[in-house]
Amino acid sequence: MKLRVDLLPDSHYPDVALVIDVLRATTTAVALLERGAGGLLLTRTAEDALGVRAVRPEVLLAGERGGLTIPGFDLGNSPVEVGEAAVAGRQVVMTTTNGTGAAWRAAQSARHVVLAALINAHAVARHALAVASEEIAIVCAGTDGRVGLDDVYAAGVIAEYLLALGDFQVDDGARIALTMRRGGGDPGEALRGSGHGATLEKLGLGADVDFAAQLSTSRLIPTLVPGDDVPVGAL
Ligand code: MLT
Repeated sequence: MKLRVDLLPDSHYPDVALVIDVLRATTTAVALLERGAGGLLLTRTAEDALGVRAVRPEVLLAGERGGLTIPGFDLGNSPVEVGEAAVAGRQVVMTTTNGTGAAWRAAQSARHVVLAALINAHAVARHALAVASEEIAIVCAGTDGRVGLDDVYAAGVIAEYLLALGDFQVDDGARIALTMRRGGGDPGEALRGSGHGATLEKLGLGADVDFAAQLSTSRLIPTLVPGDDVPVGAL
């Protein structure tokens, strides 16, 4: 079995893709589902999300641009805020700057796309191994086309779990992520030390960084189901 880590999203995934935007899109997606959201619809643009609400007024809209809640949306992209929101049973349409687009792109080719974060790291690693037939690709969303230390560290955590579970032929991306994981300190240090972690601190969103740094507190495996326009995240 091959294990590959893409430090930035690539265009083609033949088998399983675990998409990571640990700060914060994939962490927030897991938090929404943990709070009982009825399902997620990921869109690339805010206009697409607003378009869904125009025909389905019952949905909640969640998302950010520049880290802040999009005007007219019900929620931002904060896993901590989600903990206080009434999302149980509600369908949530979610759009973020990098994370939801990375998931959408992976869904164009991969057989199986899962949203991965530190909070569901063990669960997604076990699941990936169970469903993969040739390759597990861990895809780091990055920030605006640039590598994010936070995502690479989280990829290293998942890669480390996978290596404990099976035999893999690893690529250099995986070696870099594993090196980052082993030398990067604990998850809180690593995430706070990343460029995006510092940006979120400056925006007063440091609690989200601490939330995202928790390891394997969830067993949820958000799996994307390709749709006509946008993939639907299902449990
Ligand atoms: C993104 O998709 O770029 C992020 O999740 C940004 C954020 O921290 O809200």
